[in-house]
Amino acid sequence: MIFICMTGASGAIYGIKLLKFLRSRDIEVALCISENAKKIIGIETSYSVEEIKKLSNYYYENDDFSCPFSSGSNLFDEAVIIPSSMKTIGSIANGIYSNLTTRIAHICLKEGRKLLLVPRETPLSLIDLKNLLIVKEAGAVVLPASPGFYGRLESIDDLVNFIVGKILDQLRIENNLIKRWNSERFVE
Ligand SMILES: Cc1cc2nc3c(=O)[nH]c(=O)nc-3n(C[C@H](O)[C@H](O)[C@H](O)COP(=O)(O)O)c2cc1C
Repeated sequence: MIFICMTGASGAIYGIKLLKFLRSRDIEVALCISENAKKIIGIETSYSVEEIKKLSNYYYENDDFSCPFSSGSNLFDEAVIIPSSMKTIGSIANGIYSNLTTRIAHICLKEGRKLLLVPRETPLSLIDLKNLLIVKEAGAVVLPASPGFYGRLESIDDLVNFIVGKILDQLRIENNLIKRWNSERFVE
């Protein structure tokens, strides 16, 4: 089971597309959407929060510490915070586990489970960079939403798919969302 958290950074569509892909593969998902993420979903997309919740098997609010997965005693495989605000990354880096999202991240780091963070912010302050270094050193994968253009991307969908494909690669979930560099040169 994969725990997905959406926080209040621009790029809500990345989280939505990841959820849609996982649903298409029948992969079990728990979901948490922060209050600011809900606002940004309304600003940036034509999806309603209710529609997005339905892409998950289990939904929890960000202040819900009764969520079973807020304890390391209940197992999930990996967590992805997508998009990830710099405030959430700063909280994780500094041990401030005051909501479900940061608590899930804490559990991943202390229990040795995979944690993927997908920031969108640019440019980055010195504080952001230091916090990113801390979470990386603590074991998280930092996967900025920065698509590569070598696949001749043509649409917003292509850009989003590039990032979602990179995340799926990290989760070792087979996908063809990315046009892979010179892949035709792999000879069987
Ligand atoms: C329209 C909008 C876009 C935002 N984009 C970003 C962003 O890309 N990166 C970021 O770190 N914060 C961004 N913010 C600010 C965060 O939403 C804010 O820091 C919030 O406290 C994050 O809380 P959360 O991580 O609990 O969702 C944005 C806010 C708004 C209203």
